Amino acid sequence: MTGRTSLTIVLAAGEGTRMRSSTPKVLHPVAGQSLLAHVLRAAPDGPGAALAVVIGPDHQAVADEARRARPGTSTFVQRERLGTAHAVLAAREAIARGADDLLVVFGDTPLISAATLQRMRAPLQDGAALTVLGFRAANPTGYGRLLVEGGRLVAIREQADASAEERKITLCNAGVMAFDGHRALQILEKIGHANSKGEYYLPDAVAIVRDMGLQAAVIETSEDEVRGINTKSQLAEAEAVMQARLRQAALDAGVTMIAPDTVYLAADTTFGANVTIEPFVVIGPGVSIADGAVIHAFSHIVQASIGRNASVGPYARLRPGTALGEGARIGNFVETKAAVLEAGVKVNHLSYIGDSHIGAGANIGAGTITCNYDGFNKHKTSIGAGAFVGSNTSLVAPVKIGSGAYVGSGSVVTRDVPDDALALERSTQTTRAGWAARYRDMKMRDKSAKT
Ligand code: UD1
Ligand code: MG
Repeated sequence: MTGRTSLTIVLAAGEGTRMRSSTPKVLHPVAGQSLLAHVLRAAPDGPGAALAVVIGPDHQAVADEARRARPGTSTFVQRERLGTAHAVLAAREAIARGADDLLVVFGDTPLISAATLQRMRAPLQDGAALTVLGFRAANPTGYGRLLVEGGRLVAIREQADASAEERKITLCNAGVMAFDGHRALQILEKIGHANSKGEYYLPDAVAIVRDMGLQAAVIETSEDEVRGINTKSQLAEAEAVMQARLRQAALDAGVTMIAPDTVYLAADTTFGANVTIEPFVVIGPGVSIADGAVIHAFSHIVQASIGRNASVGPYARLRPGTALGEGARIGNFVETKAAVLEAGVKVNHLSYIGDSHIGAGANIGAGTITCNYDGFNKHKTSIGAGAFVGSNTSLVAPVKIGSGAYVGSGSVVTRDVPDDALALERSTQTTRAGWAARYRDMKMRDKSAKT
């Protein structure tokens, strides 16, 4: 598509009431990313590619998400919900700038691929005024049907307006359309609302194009790619399709998973070579896993980077801001948050490491807790390279453990420990020789006297 400019308009003014949710429909996530972000990221990119989203009134959060997902996206408000063609015209100002190709996609169709949108542009280059994306529906009820005569697309009939004969057609309108951008306004302005719903139907563009003596083309795709989401159960179905795709892509990239169906990935998860992921792992957004890393079973990871040959879990929880260096080891029942662990750091058992920096090779004993919160603010813990923190230590932040320092087990550390020093904070042990044997004898005598 070299040299052709594009404008992609995403329609997202729908109310989404059937989701039964206070969140606008297009902000619901699939694979850790909003429906809207999926669609925006499938849209043409780079110089000459503009993006616009049509939102409903009071949907500032949708506008914010659009700009977060693709900076530079413009937004337009459709004040009254008068149909899909009316929604497109809410972005009239953007259309009037006259891109070569105008793509219209729905914000609730997150599985659409960039490749399909590119495919739709090809007929325009060959002179068509409009490309429609079609699919064979297992159950076409509710979709607009594509009416084809003599191999040519002549119209789209909405479910409510279709005859019994037309309702038997299984070739359906996915909703995505590509217009010759220089003729788009002229076509869109001709769309009326003389139909059973009294709405301005975007699919009526097909009959208009035909009446103008121009060409309308059809590109077909699979039903999975164009699933529209109106309910929570359709949201779950889309998640399943997306997870299947992401797992397949991970396997194709060489990730080892013995039970891929139990591993949940995010759309932006990245993997190096020779990565292994054991069963029942949940990976949220913003995770990168470098070469040779192993994620053991039942781990939960969000916004974290995992270094080469690092090992995580089983049963680990890596929260946002975790960065593991090369060969770092996080063991069972360990939680980390905003924590940088340099190469070779070991936190093998039952610990909480938050707002911390741990230097290379430090060993953090079982049950070590960084006490990072005083009820009002978070404070930092810094542990130097090669330090050894004994088990069951509380590090009361802000606090600094020097490199090479030792902290005795069970200490509550409230003051900084210099490099190579020993810090020990515990009461002196009392030992009484023979005490336990005497105690047992006494108790046994008491018990037999009573029976
Ligand atoms: C639409 C198509 C139908 C197609 C189906 C595919 C029309 C008239 N019908 O039907 O041919 O088979 O999608 O899923 O286009 N929207 C607005 N403003 C409006 C109306 C809709 O922004 O005034 C947005 C919605 O948020 C949604 C999209 O447009 O993202 C489609 O609207 P929806 O009501 O879901 O249309 P369908 O009845 O599914
Ligand atoms: Mg729909």
